[in-house]
Amino acid sequence: MKSRLQNSIWTKIRAFTPRIRPSCKSSTLTRVCQFTSRSNRWQKHRILTPKRVSQPALARFALQVREDFPILRQKIHGKPLIYLDSAATSQKPQTVIDAISHFYAHECGTVHRGVYHLAAKATEKYNKVRSQIARFINAASENEIVFTRGTTDSINLLANAYAQILEEKDEIILSEMEHHSNLVPWQLLAKKRGVVLRFIPVNDRAELDLDAFAKILSPRTKLVSIAHIANSTGTINPIAKITQMAHKRGAKVLIDAAQSTAHIPLDVQELDIDFLALSSHKAFGPTGVGILYGKYDLLEMLPPVQGGGDMIETVTLEKTTFEKPPLKFEAGTPSIAQVIGFGAAIDYIQSLGLENIRSWEHQLLTYATEKLLTIPKLRIIGTAKEKSSIISFVIEDVHHLDLATFLDLEGIAIRSGHHCAEPLLQRFGLTGTCRISFAPFNTFEEIDTLMTALHKILNILKNS
Ligand SMILES: Cc1ncc(COP(=O)(O)O)c(C=O)c1O
Repeated sequence: MKSRLQNSIWTKIRAFTPRIRPSCKSSTLTRVCQFTSRSNRWQKHRILTPKRVSQPALARFALQVREDFPILRQKIHGKPLIYLDSAATSQKPQTVIDAISHFYAHECGTVHRGVYHLAAKATEKYNKVRSQIARFINAASENEIVFTRGTTDSINLLANAYAQILEEKDEIILSEMEHHSNLVPWQLLAKKRGVVLRFIPVNDRAELDLDAFAKILSPRTKLVSIAHIANSTGTINPIAKITQMAHKRGAKVLIDAAQSTAHIPLDVQELDIDFLALSSHKAFGPTGVGILYGKYDLLEMLPPVQGGGDMIETVTLEKTTFEKPPLKFEAGTPSIAQVIGFGAAIDYIQSLGLENIRSWEHQLLTYATEKLLTIPKLRIIGTAKEKSSIISFVIEDVHHLDLATFLDLEGIAIRSGHHCAEPLLQRFGLTGTCRISFAPFNTFEEIDTLMTALHKILNILKNS
């Protein structure tokens, strides 16, 4: 069933789009072509685009979504802002900004402590978001959701808990494509406990080599920790398959879902993963909050890693007994306003619909890929069959930092550098790439502007 907010957004979209059709027929395409003034380019994308969402609705969808983001109304260096770095952090819709400021203006109180109205209200809202997130990722219970500061914090939490139960020579499997957040915590653990790290290699398309994975899995493997979507290339990894293979060998599986939350549906029960980490700020929510999901019996078995208020049952001068999960892992006053903002962000994602987001972003990905490949000497890093809306590229003889700096002068924000995934770039013999990543508010026109800017910059660089 659609939420009230979702219904109201779709009512608005319909007002812009008379007689939306349920499927992608040619007359429907013609109307989109008129809308975008680029009639011939749609023919190819039609085949690749998920069919269930009508094309004109999607095109209007992006325009409608733009209105929700106040930051997009500004100019940078005198040019309209084109934000193509949602993989680094997402921009925030007005509803999220309002939810946070409403909390501070009217409802500020701490959670799990006071009996007075404000404290009770804050606690109720805070707990509600825990249940909301549990439903969003289809966890079996809200007690499987631990609030953290974000993906990095969640992975460190798990690494520090595992550090207390692993034995020397136990093994953890990671991959060559991991973000440093899913690498460094395990390196620290390996050094501390004499644990061995093994790595799944990637092929030339930046896909995981599952045959190699099968060979390094062993009875000594205790944990497999893998990105759902690689932030440097957009590769979507086959998590269900990886989990099946790991479970057959008795290993647990952690998924780094930092790049998934706002882009593709997550269902922890269907994937059968044991742990999952994600960040609110990459999914339209505020910074400083995220979650660690864990199957309840595993969370119960793991020791706490931080001590303090809220995570205790009783304390004497000699010893402490701990709360049950998730509170066992939430020492101290949590990020209450951020959790409430995160709840508003999940509401927002659901009001748009992940199916619509995915369909629109897929079209942007296809269109931008095709356009970029017309630039001589441009190479895309990461050409996996299953890709999210992220494109990493290099242009021969052009430094990625120069390109990003010149694009900024055109009001276009892209990421350049190693994207906190140095081992992957080393695998491709690179020190950095340019990366563009999409949100549902991006448009084909913005990609056209990017292309014009790129041609202009490359001309300047060529003649300098
Ligand atoms: C795949 C991936 N994992 C982990 C992280 C770290 O997320 P955070 O900085 O929000 O903790 C990022 C951030 O870019 C990421 O893309």
